[in-house]
Amino acid sequence: MSQFNKDDYDLSKPISSTSGLRQGLTSYGDAHFSLFLRKVFIKALGYSEDALSRPIIGIINTYSALNPCHANVPQLIEAAKRGVQLSGGLAVDFPTISLHESFSSPTSMFLRNLMSMDTEEMIKAQPLDACIMIGGCDKTVPAQIMGGISANKPVLPLVTGPMIPGSHRGQRLGACTDCRSNWAAYRAGSIDMEDIGNLNEELAPSAGTCGVMGTASTMACITAALGFMPLRGASAPAVSSTRLRIAEETGANAVSVAANNRTPQEMLSKESFLNAITVLQAIGGSTNAVVHLMAIINRHPAVQGQITLQTFDEVGRNVPLLVDLKPSGDNYMTDFHNAGGMLALMHTLKPLLHLSAMTITGQTMGEVLDASPFNTFPFSSAIIRPLASPLYPASSLVVLRGNLAPNGAVIKASASKYRHLLSHRGPAVVFADSADLAQRIDDPDLEVTKNSILVLQGIGPIGNPGMPEAGLIPIPRKLAEEGVLDMLRLSDGRISGTAGGTIVVHVSPESVVPGSAFGVVRNGDFISCDIESRSLNLEVSDQEIERRVAERKSGGVWEERKTKRGYRGLYERSVNQAEEGADFDFLSSTGPS
Ligand code: FES
Repeated sequence: MSQFNKDDYDLSKPISSTSGLRQGLTSYGDAHFSLFLRKVFIKALGYSEDALSRPIIGIINTYSALNPCHANVPQLIEAAKRGVQLSGGLAVDFPTISLHESFSSPTSMFLRNLMSMDTEEMIKAQPLDACIMIGGCDKTVPAQIMGGISANKPVLPLVTGPMIPGSHRGQRLGACTDCRSNWAAYRAGSIDMEDIGNLNEELAPSAGTCGVMGTASTMACITAALGFMPLRGASAPAVSSTRLRIAEETGANAVSVAANNRTPQEMLSKESFLNAITVLQAIGGSTNAVVHLMAIINRHPAVQGQITLQTFDEVGRNVPLLVDLKPSGDNYMTDFHNAGGMLALMHTLKPLLHLSAMTITGQTMGEVLDASPFNTFPFSSAIIRPLASPLYPASSLVVLRGNLAPNGAVIKASASKYRHLLSHRGPAVVFADSADLAQRIDDPDLEVTKNSILVLQGIGPIGNPGMPEAGLIPIPRKLAEEGVLDMLRLSDGRISGTAGGTIVVHVSPESVVPGSAFGVVRNGDFISCDIESRSLNLEVSDQEIERRVAERKSGGVWEERKTKRGYRGLYERSVNQAEEGADFDFLSSTGPS
């Protein structure tokens, strides 16, 4: 007969509900019976009483045959389990939603909040003492951190890691900056169909997330900067043995974090987020990370309201761009990793960081850095520049405001191809939505010059649920064929973190909001944008803007959303604007306003 715990069956003693299988019992109205039944069922899996007495560490399995960025998740689970079990815990994996950029319609961002709800509720519902969250592809890591903070049980993100670069005609390639630049070259006729077909085989040559400083890599670096995972965990390639050792280390950390009940709301502070924003600026990270970080911040009761969109601009003024990776620079995530990755970057940024911020191990960020000195090798400084010789002096990400974006808009200034466009005035060429854009952008009769400003409306959080990454408006073919590579482009949507160009995104309020000035821009209106003064203005009088707003017909998406069913209806009625994180209002720490 097995050595069972008599307390579990002693009806005179109440069931304590703080840890292991005894926490969060299913509601049957009889706690002893609930525990008895739970043990009946888990024993069907062959666990012993000894195993069931250990700290229970959940591992979120986001493997999907439609998610190549997560193809290594089975190996990571095995390594993480090894770490848990060598440290005396019991590892149990369970599934949640998995999202990949190219296999989510209309966009993966439409499903990010659903994944965060899935993550939050499954962590809360199940008897877990800590939970390792394996994510990687763009929206998965923010979804998991949002859900993890709201669940407020000990959570440990583990990212899948970047893919390795490919090669074509002697040149290195990586998804997805090179996907976009080569597609633009194909559109412009500078490469042929055979080339683009061959490139298609090489742009994603291994499992793992996009190999440049896109959204996935940015969120991985930010997760490390928040103190949520080992610093080298941000960049170790998906297919490396280092990645597996990081998984094993995460497993061991999880048992320790469970023992100390170190919750994310306790660990993360305003200073943790300021460090994350500093890193975001220094890596020239994805504009999407601004949206994700605001959603994450607004899940944290003690930080919500302490950091706003404006904070990103204020921090950025003191932070140079140091990391030479595509799309702002020239290299790939494997180069960043080989140059020392986040450990080297955090040492370089030390004077700008809040070293008292706590990390997942219980050490402060300063203690972590002191315990892991990094010697800058000559080759490292080409990829991770010293503070004294940056790639871009400051403010790689800039927040703009003006009558066109009273609640803000964002531009990755460091990714501009023609820097003169960062201070530019020109006539608008307006597209009402993505369909209008697709229909007219290559029309030879389109009235457009290289000085025009391309405006795409209707792709904001409500206007086109999920706020698609359509802000990289293609250069009209007739201009592309003349060699024009960049124009000033504005939208209320997003761009991929892997995209480059002079592109203003997240204009708020978005065009479908009844009072939005962005929604009433017309062809030929002059727009001025100036990075220095952080301004974005429609050169139309206030009276004329008011007149156009009053003239707009009601109806459309704004009204239709009130009667829509299902998740889409929930999304359109509840999503907030980009500067708040495009989260559901009822999921923020304060609930709906
Ligand atoms: Fe998954 Fe780029 S498509 S990270």
